Amino acid sequence: MTDPLTQRIDRALRSIVNPRTGADVVSAEMVRDIATTTDGKVRLTLLLDARDDATLVRAVRHAVEGVDGVAEVRVDPKDPAEFAARSRPAPPMPPPPRPPGTSRALPVMDAAPAPARPTVPPPVVYPNLGRVIAVSSGKGGVGKSTVTTNVAVALARRGLRVGLMDADVYGPNIPRMLGVDAPLPVANEKIVPNEAFGVKVVSLGFLIERDQPAIWRGPIVMKIITQFLRDVEWGQLDVLLVDMPPGTGDAQLSLVQATQVHGAIIVTTPQLVAVGDALRGARMFERVGVPVLGIVENMSWFENPETGTPIPIFGSGGGDELARELGVPILAHVPLHPRIVQAGDEGNPIVRSDPGAAASKALVQVADAIATPAGAASAR
Ligand SMILES: Nc1ncnc2c1ncn2[C@@H]1O[C@H](COP(=O)(O)OP(=O)(O)OP(=O)(O)O)[C@@H](O)[C@H]1O
Ligand SMILES: [Mg+2]
Repeated sequence: MTDPLTQRIDRALRSIVNPRTGADVVSAEMVRDIATTTDGKVRLTLLLDARDDATLVRAVRHAVEGVDGVAEVRVDPKDPAEFAARSRPAPPMPPPPRPPGTSRALPVMDAAPAPARPTVPPPVVYPNLGRVIAVSSGKGGVGKSTVTTNVAVALARRGLRVGLMDADVYGPNIPRMLGVDAPLPVANEKIVPNEAFGVKVVSLGFLIERDQPAIWRGPIVMKIITQFLRDVEWGQLDVLLVDMPPGTGDAQLSLVQATQVHGAIIVTTPQLVAVGDALRGARMFERVGVPVLGIVENMSWFENPETGTPIPIFGSGGGDELARELGVPILAHVPLHPRIVQAGDEGNPIVRSDPGAAASKALVQVADAIATPAGAASAR
């Protein structure tokens, strides 16, 4: 590894230790196939076996995201046995075999030949799901799950029939945020969703052991998402909100291939680096014909408790800039609220636990925009 960006990524990765083995993820050869682009996109494979802690995926992603010069990170968790089988050279042009752990020149992602995609059937419309709305972002940790849970609860309070599908198959945390953890029963060959605050909820978090590794390849992600759409007893919904993992990976692609998505809401923080990522995420939806309904700027400011003055901790103007760039409305500016973290951890969303807070009012504003289909339509 020679170029400075790769060296910085390598250093960051070496700080992540696999608690099971005590070795860092680089020394343990868990990190494979790192590819970087000249504009700071990083993609890597993380080999996790069934005994490894699933949160390593997130830890690795966050470590690389924190590296100077990195704009976007994608971590593909893979099963080591499967990876070894798939890495075997195959005709007609086998790549030269590489002993494990040796370095090599990094391929430039954009220059790599595009993998042949199997032809996919057209998206299926499920009329009982109502409007399917994806909540997405370019970067991780900007507050998608917080926005999705609170907006879902606020919509249910308005009397809408609301479903929430946790499509973050790599790190489902909707169950924690809504305080539900019961396994999903099956009745008449359909999965029965959990219910919290009037919202029907489905998440992989209900189906797998907590902290089990989430190693899902693209086709499996497609299967999970299709099952969540088709094989769940949702009943008749007005709105199905879908909480996405960050970025533009398999889950986003699977969702838009599996069903007709009526619109996407893009969550961003105010700093401009997050906006660049969010723009790429939004463009992906537009490319596949899914309208962006609007932008939610989260963590917009923090109110000085003594003076009441707003402090723009993460910069300002990013959400508005993104909305302008895309020609879509900004649905809300949600301020930082110290109790949001606690509310999420306790499973009592802030719109319920502190409805008077400015953050709650902003989140209800997003729900109001969604509740009025006319408003959503005029967003285009
Ligand atoms: N407005 C806010 N004020 C204070 N804390 C917030 C706010 N929004 C989100 N948070 C906190 O920030 C953290 C990240 O939020 P959240 O999990 O919703 O982001 P995410 O985009 O879904 O992350 P990921 O990409 O990992 O799925 C959480 O601990 C959450 O409680
Ligand atoms: Mg999330």
